[in-house]
Amino acid sequence: MSKARGNSSHPSKGPLPPGDGPNLHEFRYPNVPIKWIKRLDDEGREGNQAFIYRVRIAAQDYALKVFKFSNPKSNPFYWGTRLQNELPMKKAIFYTDPFYAECRAYGRIEDGRVDGHSKSPRIRQQTAVKCYGYLLLGDRDERWLMSQGHDFEADLLDSEVREALEGDTRVRAIVKHLDESPEPLHAGNIGRAWESVRLLNNYLKIYNMDIKANNFIGFRLADFGSSWTEPHEILQYLDKEGKDIANQKRGRDTQNFNDMIEEEQIPTRLRVVPTSRHQLRSKGEAPWAGRVLPKRRKRNTIKLD
Ligand SMILES: Nc1ncnc2c1ncn2[C@@H]1O[C@H](COP(=O)(O)OP(=O)(O)O)[C@@H](O)[C@H]1O
Ligand SMILES: [Mg+2]
Repeated sequence: MSKARGNSSHPSKGPLPPGDGPNLHEFRYPNVPIKWIKRLDDEGREGNQAFIYRVRIAAQDYALKVFKFSNPKSNPFYWGTRLQNELPMKKAIFYTDPFYAECRAYGRIEDGRVDGHSKSPRIRQQTAVKCYGYLLLGDRDERWLMSQGHDFEADLLDSEVREALEGDTRVRAIVKHLDESPEPLHAGNIGRAWESVRLLNNYLKIYNMDIKANNFIGFRLADFGSSWTEPHEILQYLDKEGKDIANQKRGRDTQNFNDMIEEEQIPTRLRVVPTSRHQLRSKGEAPWAGRVLPKRRKRNTIKLD
């Protein structure tokens, strides 16, 4: 199943997305053949943004997330608001497309800081499954994936999106550390999982926007396809329109984290609350922010709230 890359006609693109914002470097072996070993995500799922494969590149196994294409016109924050008049498609795609969303988030995570803050390797190691860069697939890999029945939704590539991609419609992928036997979330790691989300939100200004159990591998997040990393054009637009909606979005991970604890029936008394000033309605931080609720006196029964 080893496939040669065959994309020699394209020069390297440098970090993506282009421009000043956070961005991700190319994987160190852009032209080494990929051996496709096995699909890692659930084949039956619908509405997915990508396919995940165990691959071997230069004798090392990785998880390769291969992205479908998308069109900003199907994003309600773009077509449904005045943002479409202010933000050209060429830029909008960097804030709405799942591949670019992951590139921006991982660019920030790898850097481990937002401007002016000091670098923290701990944040990089704690918060997310390690990323090794992006890859643009060659024709043969693309044909092989299509022969496996994958639809990259290239029909969404209208002339404006093609222009925004500068005519480069190679299939986009992100190389990550392979977790051979992903640990689920449970009472023993849920606190660290919240710490990951809290660090992402408050220190790196990354809002995952899709907090759910299968986007975690152990206590680390693995999926940033829906994430918003500041500075983010949609958040800036919402800030102008009325801070409440923007701050609601900034607090969404907190809300979703609580919902996840309930949905997954994780036997924990942890309930999280917004921990950053801008996520709170009132000024200042609540003294109980982000803490585990005190344990009940009677400890012989575990009752799920
Ligand atoms: N690095 C990884 N190692 C092992 N399995 C992974 C890895 N990344 C993703 N997966 C598997 O693939 C699934 C989907 O990955 P995800 O990034 O959430 O894709 P999508 O954006 O399509 O939801 C995960 O729930 C997990 O089961
Ligand atoms: Mg996912």
